[in-house]
Amino acid sequence: MNINIYKEKIESWMENYFKTKDVGDSSVLEPIIYSLKVGGKRIRPILMICTYNMYNNIIDEILPFAASMEMIHTYSLIHDDLPCMDDDDLRRGKPTNHKVYGEAMATLAGDSLLNEAMNVMFSQCLSGELKKIRAAAIISKSSGIDGMIKGQIIDIRSEGQKINEEILLEMHKNKTGQLISASIIAGATMGEAPEKDLETLKSFGEKLGLAFQIKDDILDVEGDSKLLGKTQSDGENDKANFITMYGINKCKEFCNNLTQECYELLNSIERDTKELEDITKFLLEREY
Ligand code: IPE
Ligand code: IPE
Ligand code: MG
Ligand code: MG
Ligand code: MG
Repeated sequence: MNINIYKEKIESWMENYFKTKDVGDSSVLEPIIYSLKVGGKRIRPILMICTYNMYNNIIDEILPFAASMEMIHTYSLIHDDLPCMDDDDLRRGKPTNHKVYGEAMATLAGDSLLNEAMNVMFSQCLSGELKKIRAAAIISKSSGIDGMIKGQIIDIRSEGQKINEEILLEMHKNKTGQLISASIIAGATMGEAPEKDLETLKSFGEKLGLAFQIKDDILDVEGDSKLLGKTQSDGENDKANFITMYGINKCKEFCNNLTQECYELLNSIERDTKELEDITKFLLEREY
C-alpha cells in the first residue's frame, strides 16, 4: 500500500467519525471539520501506520490511533495560531480557525479535537487489549504537560528572551518531537515490535522530531508562504529558536546530520524500513 492511500484512509476515517456523530445541531462541528479538512501533510499518522506496517498489516486496527494523533496535532495547531499564542492568520493554505469562527469557537474546536481523540482511544481500549492501552497511554502522555504542552510553554515564555542551548533543545524536543516520536512508538507498540526495535525506533523518532522542527524554523525564514500555506511569524514574534541560536547554515547542517543518523538507525533494524526511509528523505527535502 502506498503512502497516499494511508493519507486518504486517515482523512476518510476522521471525516466519517464526525459525520456520524450525533450532536443535535450539526453546525457545532463546523469549526472542527474546517481545520481537519483543510489539508496538512498527515505526517504523524502516516509515520504511525508505516511503523506498524513493519510488524503487522491490519490497517483497521491502527487507524483509530493514527486518526487520534492527527486530531491532537490539529488541535495543537488551532491553539498555536490563536492571538494569545503565535497570532497567525494563515494555516494549511486557509485563514486560521479563529479568523473564520472567532477565538472562543477556535479554542473550543481545539478542546473538542483533543477530547474526541481521547474518546476514540478509550473506546478502542475497551477491548482490554494491552497493546491498545499502551499505545493510548503513549499518545496521551506525549501531548501533555511533560510533552507537547511543556514545549509550547517554553516557546511562549522564551519569546524575546536569550535562552541557553539546553532550554532550546528541551523546547524543540517537546513541542514537536514528542508527537512525532510517540507516533512511531505507538505504531511499533500496536505492531508488537520486539523490545530491541522499540529502543531503536525511539531514538529514530527523537532525531526525526528534532530535525522536523529545525526544518520548520528554516522554512519560517526561507520558505515560500504560498507553498507553506502558513504565516511566517517567528521574526515578528521574536521567537527564540534554532535559527536565532545557530544561524541558517548550521541549522541545515544539523538537519542533514540528523537525517543521516536516522537512516543509520533504520538500517540497523532487520525489517523492511523502506517507507520510513522515504518519509525521512521527504521531511529533509520538504518545502512545506
Ligand atoms: C506544523 O506541523 C507544526 C509543527 C509542529 C512544526 P506540520 O508541518 O506537520 O503541519 P501540517 O499538519 O502539515 O499542516
Ligand atoms: C508549533 O511550533 C508546535 C506545535 C505544538 C503546534 P510552531 O509555532 O513553530 O509551528 P508553526 O510554524 O506555527 O506551524
Ligand atoms: Mg508556536
Ligand atoms: Mg506557530
Ligand atoms: Mg514554525
